Amino acid sequence: MCLIPPASQPGECSHARTHHRSKIALRSATAAGTYAWCACGVRKISRFCDGTHKGSGFAPVRVTIAEAKAIAWCGCKHTKNPPYCDGTHGTLT
Ligand code: FES
Repeated sequence: MCLIPPASQPGECSHARTHHRSKIALRSATAAGTYAWCACGVRKISRFCDGTHKGSGFAPVRVTIAEAKAIAWCGCKHTKNPPYCDGTHGTLT
């Protein structure tokens, strides 16, 4: 599922054109808590929303992690199970 609003060209994903996307999962030990995963891809460093998306039509995906664990956060923004990596990055060109 691409979380990006329709691109200017049919079939085009605006992530590829204007936003950063990682071609790898962003794995990290994650403490229990509530997180806002960045769905817009404008953030280049962190996987979490800092409000940069405002005015873009994007919105973060909020998730509550009940207990500390390792998480593979989606970096490509095309996962079918946001905010988690589902391996879709391996199919992107
Ligand atoms: S900065 Fe990307 S969704 Fe908020």
